[in-house]
Amino acid sequence: MKIKFLLVLVSLFFSLNSCSKEDNDVAETLETPTANAPKDVNDNGFKAKWNYVSNSKSYLLDVSTSENFDTFVANYNAKPVTDLNEVVVGLLGGTQYYYRVRAKTETEISDYSNVISVVTTGSSGIPEDPTFLKVKANKVANPFFVGMAIKASQLTTGSPYDIILKNEFSSISAEYEMKMDQISTASGVYNWSVADKIVAYGNTNGINVHGHALVWHNAVPQWLKNFSGTDAEFALEVKKYITDVVTHYAGKVKSWDVVNEAVDDTDGKMRNTIFLQRMGANYVKDCFQWAKNAANAAGDTKLLLFYNDYATSTNIPKQDKVFSLVDDLKTANVIDGLGFQMHNTYLSPTKAQIETDLNKAVAKGLKIHVSELDIQVNQFNDITTFTNERRLVQKAKYKEMVKIYNALPVANKYALTIWGMRDNESWIPYSTDLNHVGNDWPLLYDSNFAIKSSHTGFLEGLD
Ligand code: G3I
Repeated sequence: MKIKFLLVLVSLFFSLNSCSKEDNDVAETLETPTANAPKDVNDNGFKAKWNYVSNSKSYLLDVSTSENFDTFVANYNAKPVTDLNEVVVGLLGGTQYYYRVRAKTETEISDYSNVISVVTTGSSGIPEDPTFLKVKANKVANPFFVGMAIKASQLTTGSPYDIILKNEFSSISAEYEMKMDQISTASGVYNWSVADKIVAYGNTNGINVHGHALVWHNAVPQWLKNFSGTDAEFALEVKKYITDVVTHYAGKVKSWDVVNEAVDDTDGKMRNTIFLQRMGANYVKDCFQWAKNAANAAGDTKLLLFYNDYATSTNIPKQDKVFSLVDDLKTANVIDGLGFQMHNTYLSPTKAQIETDLNKAVAKGLKIHVSELDIQVNQFNDITTFTNERRLVQKAKYKEMVKIYNALPVANKYALTIWGMRDNESWIPYSTDLNHVGNDWPLLYDSNFAIKSSHTGFLEGLD
């Protein structure tokens, strides 16, 4: 009898002990730490601080230049720290950083703490040379982004492109790598890698990212060209693509060309694209609505949605049709801006034609993006080298375009983007798309990355 009683006591002791141990396990569930304001902020770092979390053995510290931590400062991606603070070093001066922590035991990691933002003192180290385009553009009465079309292969740290982009440009557009034919490999299947690299470059370096372009008839992936489903199913594929891409880049891409070049060049009607054929006359509005719905669902209520096209300053039937389309999109409350590509020449369009065109967008309360500016000097193939005469007229035309843009009301300013960095990389020379048989020198930098007189013309346009 006594033995039984003892056995009951012993088993009772172990069960209580195991309960208390289980209770301890339950009690040991790690709380989320609270990150506190930094101390000792200086030109190249600060002391990150956080509170103690009971039962924690250490902490994991993240430091980033991006509030959503899609990239990390080297050595500060879940850096193990045993104290309740860490002196973060090796940072840029005058730059905004974010940090957060998690608590850790041998077997468990807590959720992320709140995020603390801190700006290091001093300068960013990036020279503020007044002959840099964005430096001067940021000092005008109503600043605007100075944009550049780029390719992912140009973004290697320390490359001439990288240095020029960080010195001179405050916005980037992917020349082709964020288009549907580059991202979408099959229905609901995406290759994000290249576009992610471009977006991360902008986000990491405080450079605005303009998304170009969700829907364009010249960038339809083969699988969608061959799509054998019904028209309604085709429309669902386009809706899914727009929804997935806008969601993927929510908060990272600040604006999108939702539809590019939907209006025909000849008769001012809608261009007869696969989208018009399979989705009907309202396809542009549908695409904008899907983009807006996706942005709102992702909480990206600041995303700007643009319609983008070309030659509206000189092709009046096309201009009329574009603004009629814009009216429909405004009625549906789905459009924020208009992209004027401005693939111009040293002769056309005239100042008056450009002003008339842009002022129609001003009257409609739209953001204006001069989205693909380049200025041909050899559209007639009448020169074989970049003559002094064409150099000077090109400089004057860049100055004119920048002056017109800079004179826009603040509410209508967004960005003025140059379509490529070096003359020899421009889409224009010998372009079959453009029927441009000869060479050309349309941009701001020559093949050696040296600035041209067109660059000086741009700066003078900001005076
Ligand atoms: O870089 C690759 C190369 O590795 C590969 O060997 C080669 C052959 O496949 O392709 C190269 O990429 C090409 C890229 O230009 C090079 O810059 C793409 O195939 C080609 O499609 C791409 O063309 C772009 C075109 O849009 C189509 O996306 C042009 O760069 C770009 O300037 C042009 O831009 C358009 C705007 O989006 C809309 N407005 C008109 C403007 C001019 O056409």
